[in-house]
Amino acid sequence: MAQRLKKAVIPAAGFGTRLLPATKAQPKEMLPIVDRPAIQYVVEEAIAAHLPDILIITGKGKHAIEDHFDRNFELEEELGKSDKREALEEIREIIRKARLHYTRQNELLGLGDAIRYARDHVDKESFAVLLGDTLLRPSGSCLKELVAIHERTGDAVLAVEEVPADKVDRYGILEIESQTRDREFKVKRIIEKPSVEEAPSRLAAAGRYILLPEIFEILDTVQPGKNNEIQLTDALQILAQQGRLHAYQFEGKRYDVGNKTDYVLTTLEYALDRPDLPGIREAVHEILKGK
Ligand code: G1P
Repeated sequence: MAQRLKKAVIPAAGFGTRLLPATKAQPKEMLPIVDRPAIQYVVEEAIAAHLPDILIITGKGKHAIEDHFDRNFELEEELGKSDKREALEEIREIIRKARLHYTRQNELLGLGDAIRYARDHVDKESFAVLLGDTLLRPSGSCLKELVAIHERTGDAVLAVEEVPADKVDRYGILEIESQTRDREFKVKRIIEKPSVEEAPSRLAAAGRYILLPEIFEILDTVQPGKNNEIQLTDALQILAQQGRLHAYQFEGKRYDVGNKTDYVLTTLEYALDRPDLPGIREAVHEILKGK
């Protein structure tokens, strides 16, 4: 039985070049999905999965993330006792429920390198990783399953989803050793962003992981891989070879907010589900009639 997990790491250091020019002077994780920055949903997901100790790995130009998860007394005073002030209440709730920590990745050497900055913070415990540009709904349920699998097996676990063949080259893709339970697999191999011809399946790493503290030693040995970056996938491949990597095909939906098309679609879908913003569905129909 593994130790109870309580730490989450959110890598959020990347430039967000796929969303330029919007990300020239602001972090991609701060772009709004309706009225909340994307990273707020990710932090709320960690809290929903009972992981209140959250380390955000930031980098140059990412101050807005820290400012967002902080009180702003001047603004609160200005708003007085209005509805608008209530809109800030959920931030205060996050600050009450979670312990947020920050560290900076000095050079953008890849996701695997970013994770290395969590070494001192996680201090020999297993920990969850939530990519800052990926949202999952329902919030928290996938992570809870990953934690349960980790606690049962003591191994590393990642969330996967099936993607269309023409998108396998965007993801870490798995070769399955065996199915162990409903939606659960033992992983034989994982390969970062393969071509359609190379891809062993269409099961893709979906941006949520439970990692073992041994990952840091493994990451130290990993050489730059795809796109000349230190890839987390290459470290996971070493765990897979040791028979210590499991996959969970989560129930729910993943939203990639790191590219323009998916960003727009995510915003629209989240807006459609907001009872306090009526009329959007009808308005979209009207727009489409005119196209
Ligand atoms: C990263 C990982 C990849 C994973 C993807 C999920 O890629 O390297 O294995 O499938 O996240 O979003 P990135 O999107 O950072 O290029």
